Amino acid sequence: MCGIVGYVGPAEASSRPLDVALDGLRRLEYRGYDSAGVALVAPGRDDVAVAKKSGKLANLVEELDARPLPGATASIGHTRWATHGGPTDVNAHPHLADGGRLAVIHNGIVENFASLRAGLVADGAVLLSETDTEVTAHLLAREYRATGDLTSAMAATARQLEGTFTLLAVHADAPGTVVGARHDSPLVVGLGDGENFLGSDVAAFVASTHEALELAQDQVVTITATSVEVSDFDGAPAEGKRFTVDWDAAAAEKGGFDSFMDKEIHDQPQAVADTLLGRSDAQGRLVLDDLRIDESVLRSVDKIIVIACGTAAYAGHVAKYAIEHWCRIPVEVELAHEFRYRDPIVDARTLVVAISQSGETMDTLMAVRHAREQGATVLSIVNTHGSTIPRESDAVLYTHAGPEIAVASTKAFLSQITAAYLLGLYLAQLRGNKYPDEIATLLDELRDMPRKVRTVIERSEYVRATARSMADADKVLFLGRHVGFPVALEGALKLKELAYIHAEGFAAGELKHGPIALIDAGQPVFVVVPSPHGRDQLHSKIVSNIQEIRARGARTLVIAEDGDDEVRRYADEIFWIPQSPSLLQPLLAVVPLQIFAMALAGAKGLDVDQPRNLAKSVTVE
Ligand code: F6R
Repeated sequence: MCGIVGYVGPAEASSRPLDVALDGLRRLEYRGYDSAGVALVAPGRDDVAVAKKSGKLANLVEELDARPLPGATASIGHTRWATHGGPTDVNAHPHLADGGRLAVIHNGIVENFASLRAGLVADGAVLLSETDTEVTAHLLAREYRATGDLTSAMAATARQLEGTFTLLAVHADAPGTVVGARHDSPLVVGLGDGENFLGSDVAAFVASTHEALELAQDQVVTITATSVEVSDFDGAPAEGKRFTVDWDAAAAEKGGFDSFMDKEIHDQPQAVADTLLGRSDAQGRLVLDDLRIDESVLRSVDKIIVIACGTAAYAGHVAKYAIEHWCRIPVEVELAHEFRYRDPIVDARTLVVAISQSGETMDTLMAVRHAREQGATVLSIVNTHGSTIPRESDAVLYTHAGPEIAVASTKAFLSQITAAYLLGLYLAQLRGNKYPDEIATLLDELRDMPRKVRTVIERSEYVRATARSMADADKVLFLGRHVGFPVALEGALKLKELAYIHAEGFAAGELKHGPIALIDAGQPVFVVVPSPHGRDQLHSKIVSNIQEIRARGARTLVIAEDGDDEVRRYADEIFWIPQSPSLLQPLLAVVPLQIFAMALAGAKGLDVDQPRNLAKSVTVE
């Protein structure tokens, strides 16, 4: 939550610092869009130039057009997801101190801000906003007056703060420097040629450089145009870890689509294909990248706990069915924030799998730490390189979905399921649960999924038209069984977050235990129908469920496999998907639900990329 960008360029004042800050904010706006602001410093000026505005970045750009800022050598920029204080101009970052000579931006929550604020006010400081950030600006100013050095002042400030924070600061006395600090909140460095960058994630600077430096917890970083210095909060020198970003800047553009979400839905075949790429050796055996866990540990695992939030948790829920089936290891799926606070039974034979697109979700990060403290081995499935969760895990399996900008997750979901399936097959291979030729067959079926996902996307016009005709719906239900159940949950989540409609997903078998009371005439109900060719009786059971709700007046919107003639007669609307093995069906069945939610929100005139009240990366608990 909150996007942060920092930049220092060559000594001659120019427009580049502002351009870089605005471009970075545009790419980070998915992290929060309650307000946006920038601060610029230049040699010879005795204050910091600031512009900030509540609402989306476009408001700030309008403000800058009306009242341009002077050229500069360094900049910081912020896009806000409000925590302390409402989304007003005054509460927008940057916050100033030291008579307008120092500016600070912040991501996170300073938990002891009330006592710090009281101390500052007692010392005569005048604070204008309701934010915790302004307190850090005044603390930093006080430390700077004492030390005369921005880096050590930042370290001294960081030592006084409780909670989570990334802070960036500029001072008029040091127009060629940006100083940052991080504690349980993201910050990466972009290494340019004669210029350097800071960002909440690499999207902030990927248009300018692909060379980056990962920072560890509790570090201070000072960038100039030609240097990057890292130290800990006690001032001891430290090293960052270099990496190369493999996303290109175009991946973070809309590429001709109306929204990032639409583009990312269309990216899904590639995201699945890329996540599968290069995962087997010359003998056809599965290999997983960055797997720093001894094979003997993985052989001895007697329980897997998947921890994640939201869509990522539903991906884990899907994976549970496959991993238990293939590996015969019990799998629990737990929301990360519940896991952390419930005294879970975890020991050295537990493999905890943390799933996160951003790699920064605070609930998931805290659960990872808790699991490791209890002696568990943690493997994370993450999309964003340079993020915190992989760094704090024993191993990481990267999804290769590319940047996901739309706040509602789509391609990350498909690539998380794909990666978790790879993990399941790997464990089955390692533990001898499956013969190599069985694994090879399953892998071939997985490799065929991008083609089938593309087919579902090509058929999307009927889904879009149906959605447009339902723009006035106020309640939609979703049913599924087996792996179709988490798909139903995900379909409901997409509709809630994008179209602000009450939507709920149920296991279809649960219907008669209560939720069927919700059904009345015309009630729209999506039903995810399993393959009619499956070995169990799932198909006939769900066909019975459809008849039960139809008998009570429901309007049934059915997702079914090509050739499923039996279900056709019970469907008011039917969305066909290609046939696939049962366990792989979620990769297809979810796609019409994503498109439906997006199109219905669009028909209501809502912003599908930036739904109200949300932020993409939830970096506070
Ligand atoms: C929903 C959505 C969220 C995220 C959740 C976890 O569309 O995007 O539910 O899935 O906040 O985020 P990550 O995967 O970044 O940990």
